Amino acid sequence: MTAELSPIDTAKLVAARRAAEFVTDGMRVGLGTGSTAAFLVERLGERVREDGLKIRGVPTSNRTADLARQVGIEVITLDEAGWLDVTIDGTDEFDSDLNLIKGGGGALLQEKIVATASDQMIVIADAAKQVETLGAFPLPVEVIPFGWQTTRSLIEETLVTMDVLGRGTSLRMAGDAPFRTDEGNHILDLDLKRIGNARQLAMVLNQIPGVVENGLFIDICDVVVIGHGDGRVELR
Ligand code: 5RP
Repeated sequence: MTAELSPIDTAKLVAARRAAEFVTDGMRVGLGTGSTAAFLVERLGERVREDGLKIRGVPTSNRTADLARQVGIEVITLDEAGWLDVTIDGTDEFDSDLNLIKGGGGALLQEKIVATASDQMIVIADAAKQVETLGAFPLPVEVIPFGWQTTRSLIEETLVTMDVLGRGTSLRMAGDAPFRTDEGNHILDLDLKRIGNARQLAMVLNQIPGVVENGLFIDICDVVVIGHGDGRVELR
């Protein structure tokens, strides 16, 4: 089953397949974004088609919505669902408190809204995503395009007072143009290296005008399903 996959993709696949077992008939499921989440969506689609699993999915991005429809999952909006039984999503980093950095794929806003509107958030990750302290992965911050350079200056000023090691900020690009999220916003990636107080930083960033949301998920994740390259899976 996993023979043709690299160890990292094997790790993502086995984590996704194990997490798919948490999904049962009748559930409203938040569907994450990214390569690990894609394995999950494909597995759930398989169960819908082959085992008659009855679920409704709320995707966290246009690309996940496209994939979910393609594999046969009924797609509804968050407002149609009202509330979700579970959300399963990937991550860029997680620490021992199950706090996360997300948004490497640019879908952090919908991902945070959907995860927060769920009874349970299950994160699926390859073992390399586990860190002692968050921050080696650049922290994505979604900002509205209007005045984004001013917003960036305000973020940079704020970082001076925060317990972080790095202070670099860069506008995410897609080729020659600024990257646009599904909401039409930009992403600033903050190269902080080490985030001493992630809870405080998450709150302070969201106070800055122009910031829509940041990629720190604090106290949102309930379980991490960790996949290894040799096919082992562990739950945290
Ligand atoms: C998208 C995300 C992804 O979950 C995160 O970037 C991990 O992606 P991958 O599973 O491809 O490593 O937060 O916004």
